[in-house]
Amino acid sequence: MFLVVGARPNFMKAAALCRAFRKQRIRVELCHTGQHYDRVMSDSFFRQLGLPRPKYALGIGSGSHAEQTGRAMIGIEKALLESRPGMVMVVGDVNSTVAGALAAVKLHVPVAHVEAGLRSGDRRMPEEINRIVTDAVSDYCFVTEEDGRKNLRREGFDMKRVFLVGDVMVDTLLHFKPRAARLKRARRLGLSSTGYALSTLHRPGNVDEEKTLSGLVGAFEEIAESLPFVLAAHPRTRQRLKRFGLLKRFEELKTSRSRNPQNAGPGLWLLPPQEYLDFMSLVMDCRIMLTDSGGLQEETSVLGVPCLTLRWNTERPVTLREGTSKLVGNDPARVLRAARRAMASPRRKRRVRLWDGKAGGRIAKIVARILRGPAS
Ligand code: UD1
Repeated sequence: MFLVVGARPNFMKAAALCRAFRKQRIRVELCHTGQHYDRVMSDSFFRQLGLPRPKYALGIGSGSHAEQTGRAMIGIEKALLESRPGMVMVVGDVNSTVAGALAAVKLHVPVAHVEAGLRSGDRRMPEEINRIVTDAVSDYCFVTEEDGRKNLRREGFDMKRVFLVGDVMVDTLLHFKPRAARLKRARRLGLSSTGYALSTLHRPGNVDEEKTLSGLVGAFEEIAESLPFVLAAHPRTRQRLKRFGLLKRFEELKTSRSRNPQNAGPGLWLLPPQEYLDFMSLVMDCRIMLTDSGGLQEETSVLGVPCLTLRWNTERPVTLREGTSKLVGNDPARVLRAARRAMASPRRKRRVRLWDGKAGGRIAKIVARILRGPAS
């Protein structure tokens, strides 16, 4: 099995898959494209999640979509010609995902896509194009929830190759939850015990335009009048905040692990990207999450944390119906209203079917059957 990863959200999914493949004695060769490469965006995830050292590390780095996807395809093709695996597995919807699927299918290597079938209906999102193209060239589609299956059926997929297995990101969350809970990251950062709001932002639609980003920061500022508001800023978001002169409205939250942290009361606080366990610890203890991330819509649903999704659409509608997420877009007045309502309402936790920590195991069993052929 040749498993392709590239960007932060891939690593959590790959960790669950590697564990499950090990149990089924399926040998994994990991290929890291290097789409994310910083210590905190990549290396620390490998270490914390116990991912094996990549056999292929392509180091493609940042660039335009075509540059990134093209460089990843070239590197993956070379690696595949050397490795000649029985199957290539790609996860999620990042540029490295589509690159892996395209490189493999053209070499006639069977392709499996984990987290297939999700659709936001918004073709202006690069991830939506990646999802459509990846699914179209995949031989096996592993879907996280019923919506995925419905979407693929509507698009005319052969349903014998579509498997509803659950969510491997939830496998990793449930596996590491006790460890993250013990970290008590909020207390170590000096965040007030009366609660805090936590946010991540990185979508071009939210951070690339000055008007949109400054509107959102304005809404965050109002929320921050009553409690600390912590933005864990993706490198791209930090660059934009700086460019638009918005960085000075934040105070840097000191991340030293000292015994006497500062007292971080109400106000806007900025954190660098966090390691997986630290961040999950912060998510578990926050009063409200505001994010444009796909994965966090799922993680907050499982943890029962109220989540405002700062987008106009989502490829994960199950988190709206059965989880704790609410779509609020990026209009500041609307974000503020929704935040006040969410903070006043009690926490609730609901379970999406098959989000039970066993998705990787289901995938590994199916893959073992496919790789070992009909005789076994
Ligand atoms: C990518 C994925 C997105 C995913 C996100 C998670 C695509 C199209 N997008 O978006 O779906 O939700 O990862 O984080 O694949 N940078 C660094 N260090 C790094 C990586 C990036 O400084 O390790 C900076 C670079 O300036 C880069 C920018 O962040 O230009 C954006 O990175 P990129 O990989 O292009 O996309 P993301 O926004 O991270």
